[in-house]
Amino acid sequence: MISASAPGKVVLMGEHAVVFGKPAIALAVDLRTHCLAKNSEEMLANAQPITWESNPYLHYIINEIYAKDEDFTDPGPVSFTLFSDLPAGSGLGSSAALCASTLGALLTLKSISWDKKKIAQKSFESEFGVQGRASPMDTSVCTFGGGVFLDSKPGHNMIWEASRDDKSWYVHDLNVPKMTMVIGYTGIKKPTGPMVSKVAAYCKRTKFAREIIDDIGIITLEGAKCIRQRDLEQLGRLMTKNHKLLTILGVSCPELQTLVDAAMPYSYGAKLTGAGGGGSMIALTDEPEKVCHAIKLRGGISYTVTTGEEGLKICERE
Ligand code: PMV
Repeated sequence: MISASAPGKVVLMGEHAVVFGKPAIALAVDLRTHCLAKNSEEMLANAQPITWESNPYLHYIINEIYAKDEDFTDPGPVSFTLFSDLPAGSGLGSSAALCASTLGALLTLKSISWDKKKIAQKSFESEFGVQGRASPMDTSVCTFGGGVFLDSKPGHNMIWEASRDDKSWYVHDLNVPKMTMVIGYTGIKKPTGPMVSKVAAYCKRTKFAREIIDDIGIITLEGAKCIRQRDLEQLGRLMTKNHKLLTILGVSCPELQTLVDAAMPYSYGAKLTGAGGGGSMIALTDEPEKVCHAIKLRGGISYTVTTGEEGLKICERE
């Protein structure tokens, strides 16, 4: 039996602008997805047959990634047990954590060689294959842990690069301190694809929207500097500014704004995280109890999390 786990993530700054080649920062948080894998008589996930309809990510990983690996030798079936601290569809990287933990468990069980770069790459391929659209941000941070900085060019601390169609992403390691954040989940499952298309259409139509994207890129670079300098006050201010720019782009919603407003009095800064239109917001705070209380009062679901979380972890069990 192999046991693997991978963390969820928050986008600290730069979502949407990253789609246009601007920088973005994502951080691993201490809410994890776990995958246990053992050889079995049938391919099963939580004791059920694995179909595209019931579990598209696992189905894709088994049929398109694992079975086509150059080191694949053992076609014997596997039984997976999956469980997660992350609510599905909340914008917290649940599908990326599932891909990374499943691939880690499966390749280890079948003695197929891997390193984290390979897992990040294969997890990205799986998300892309299932969703038809993805950046390598979530799968990289869920695999490597800590923090990642996506840039449009290679630089110091680059871990790997990914390309799709005419786009390239250069994924860098970002050394992140332990910071406390509160996540407020609206309970609304977030539609990433339509939100990305909405921003693309707005940018095609107006120079104003393209300038907002440029501004997000500029403040995200400043945010990375604040992390390196451990300046949480300025980082919080930049997060709030990022939220305002995302709101102007049209990707916030009343439920997200309510939770951001609730968190602000007790936070360095707060913003929506991920695609928007629902999903979650984050607040950088050293008064997490007060923020959680304020979020719950306004109908949100709150999680207090710590950043700097370790990436994919494997432990072999009898
Ligand atoms: O859906 P999430 O939470 O992984 O965030 C999507 C982030 C976007 O920048 C909107 C899209 C992307 O692929 O980077």
